[in-house]
Amino acid sequence: MQIETSRLRLRRFHPRDVPDFAAYRSDREVARYQNWDFPLPLASARRLVDEYARRDPTRPGWFPYAIELKEDERLVGDIAVNRHPGGAKAELGFSIARARQGQGYASEAVRGVLAELFAQGLRTAVAECDVRNTPSARLLERLGFTFAREHSFFEREKRAHITLSEFTLPAERWATLGRQ
Ligand SMILES: CC(C)(COP(=O)(O)OP(=O)(O)OC[C@H]1O[C@@H](n2cnc3c(N)ncnc32)[C@H](O)[C@@H]1OP(=O)(O)O)[C@@H](O)C(=O)NCCC(=O)NCCS
Repeated sequence: MQIETSRLRLRRFHPRDVPDFAAYRSDREVARYQNWDFPLPLASARRLVDEYARRDPTRPGWFPYAIELKEDERLVGDIAVNRHPGGAKAELGFSIARARQGQGYASEAVRGVLAELFAQGLRTAVAECDVRNTPSARLLERLGFTFAREHSFFEREKRAHITLSEFTLPAERWATLGRQ
C-alpha cells in the first residue's frame, strides 16, 4: 500500500505522527475550508491516528495516507482516498502543514496517488474544494483536473452556507498528460 515519490513516502499513519498531525489539524489556516473537528487536542489526534492505522486501503471508503518527507522522516500532511465500490471512481482530499506548503509536496503526493490508482484501473478521480479555496483549485487544475460542477448546502457546525466545486480527472485525460 505504500507509495513512494522522489521526496515523499505515502504510508499508513503511525503513533509517531500524532504531534505533527495534531499541530496542523489545529492550525486555523489549514483548517479554514475543511470540515474536520477544530482544534484537535493530542488525545483526540491519538485516537484518530489509531483508527486510521487500522483501515484497509483496498476496501471502499476513506483511507488517509500519511505524507512523510523522506529527508527528515516527519509527517508533512495527509492525503485521503475514498475508493468507491468497484474501483472505477475515487475521491481525494489533502492537507499540508503550513510550514511545509509551497514546496510542491501536495502536487507530488496527489500525482503519486493518481499514478497508483489509475494503474489499478481507476476510471475517474474526483476532488472537491470550497469555492473560495483558490490554492486547492489551482493545484487540481495544474495536475489536469477540470471543473465539473458546484453544489451548495447549509453546514450546521459552521452555521454557514458552503459551496463546493467538484473537479474531475478521467483516466483518458490522465493518460495524455505525460505526453504533453
Ligand atoms: C492546498 C494545499 C494542500 C496545497 O499544498 P502545497 O504543498 O502548498 O501545494 P504545492 O506546493 O504543490 O503547490 C502550491 C504552490 O507552490 C508552488 N510550488 C513551489 N515549489 C514547487 C515545486 N517544487 N513543485 C510544484 N509546485 C511548487 C506551486 O506552483 C503552487 O503555486 P500556486 O499556488 O501559485 O499555484 C495546502 O495549501 C493546504 O493544505 N491547504 C489547507 C487544506 C486544504 O484546503 N486542502 C484542500 C482541500 S480539497
